[in-house]
Amino acid sequence: MHENSPLMKNTSDNNRKNSQRRDLLIAFCTVALTYFLSIILDPAEHFMEWAEPLEHGQIDELPFVFLAAAIVAIWFSSRRMRELSIEIATRREAEKKAHESLIRFQTLFEEGLSGNFIADRYGNLVICNQAFRIMSGMAVRGEDQFNIASALGSEWQAIARDPSPSAYLDFPELILERPDKGVWVVMARFRQVLSETAEIQEIHGYFTDITEQYLAEKELSQLFVENRALAGHAMQAQEEERCRLAREIHDDVGQYLTAIRLDAATIPNIDDRVSASVYLERIAKHAEYIQIAIKRIIRRLRPAALDAHGLVEAIQQLVHDWCKQNPEIDCSMNLDESCNRLPETISIVIFRIIQEALTNISRHAQAHHVDIYLKNKDQGLFVRIKDDGLGIQSSSATPNSFGLTGMRERIESLHGSFVLASRPNAGVTITAIIPFNHSRECKYVENTVG
Ligand SMILES: Nc1ncnc2c1ncn2[C@@H]1O[C@H](COP(=O)(O)OP(=O)(O)OP(=O)(O)O)[C@@H](O)[C@H]1O
Ligand SMILES: [Mg+2]
Repeated sequence: MHENSPLMKNTSDNNRKNSQRRDLLIAFCTVALTYFLSIILDPAEHFMEWAEPLEHGQIDELPFVFLAAAIVAIWFSSRRMRELSIEIATRREAEKKAHESLIRFQTLFEEGLSGNFIADRYGNLVICNQAFRIMSGMAVRGEDQFNIASALGSEWQAIARDPSPSAYLDFPELILERPDKGVWVVMARFRQVLSETAEIQEIHGYFTDITEQYLAEKELSQLFVENRALAGHAMQAQEEERCRLAREIHDDVGQYLTAIRLDAATIPNIDDRVSASVYLERIAKHAEYIQIAIKRIIRRLRPAALDAHGLVEAIQQLVHDWCKQNPEIDCSMNLDESCNRLPETISIVIFRIIQEALTNISRHAQAHHVDIYLKNKDQGLFVRIKDDGLGIQSSSATPNSFGLTGMRERIESLHGSFVLASRPNAGVTITAIIPFNHSRECKYVENTVG
């Protein structure tokens, strides 16, 4: 219990009153006993008898002298008592104030949200609050020792080597290393406490933990750089695609159109009906080639089967075309038919992921077998593309590789998860899970169809 509590105060007041009563009682009893003994023993008469022969020395006056001395002594001691009780009251008041300021100190130092500490000039912790123990990891490790100097490295020199002319040393961002090697970023203020000889005696520190903010900002700026690179790549890819389309239109369509124009110009000059029919047949053949070429171009621009027959057939067609271009690779598929009823945004993402994965396999994998798996599960849509090729060589990634990043971004834009697993000479497995509310999405499809 606190010594200044009302209960304690009452108890000590009662004790004082009791002891005063006891003292009064003892004084009264002493006076009464002395009077009683004086009546029996007659000491004053005996004294007077004894003092009579010494009358010329005025010895008989001594009792009055003793009485005066006793009264003066009582007066002095009661004055001293009053002084003592004033001194005690002053001390009590000072103690109360000291206690209040201790409580204030504890509240500010101990319970503050900032990590507060006092360290010697070598960085050894003298005292710290709970917030500091938590942010430094001391609380988790159950340690009492911490050296700020070794956590701060060379920065500590600037703080503790020479007395600073300014009252505080402020750092908007300090990166420290915890003993567990974890990063710890703080906004810090230090105050040097100097001795009488102007030497640094202690360092007082106030830390605000900004680790999460720092990491989030770092991630954001990294994402910003990635986004800029992706946007640049998208523009470049668009340009390349346009060039390819222009080339294809020129080489395939243009070439056959020229041939048709020449044949059509020749026909009016032919009298012979049989020869004319040869030209007409050639025109029809060239028109057919043009039709095939245009269909191929349109399919590349947007998989037509996706609109016409749904995702499963579009993938089958994509894989069919890819297998024709890569006859040395054997391909197996397991596609869930219910995936045809997915919303367009999801279908396009899945189609493009499989398309990029197949392109990567033909470009980088040297695989013999590819397996494509698509399943509509409870937790969402599950896609897996697996090959048995070389696997991703750590040295082969270039800053201009965007395919895998694009896949991840597409999946993340649908709040899905993307996992890329690769082992040397054991191929690459790409797994994506796209969550969606099955009933809601089906309704959406029905609504769009209706
Ligand atoms: N199936 C795979 N087998 C082996 N290596 C692969 C496979 N897929 C990707 N890689 C490796 O990963 C790297 C990154 O692939 P990514 O698709 O991101 O870029 P890219 O194919 O090089 O270029 P692009 O941006 O045109 O797609 C590739 O350069 C390649 O080395
Ligand atoms: Mg690629």
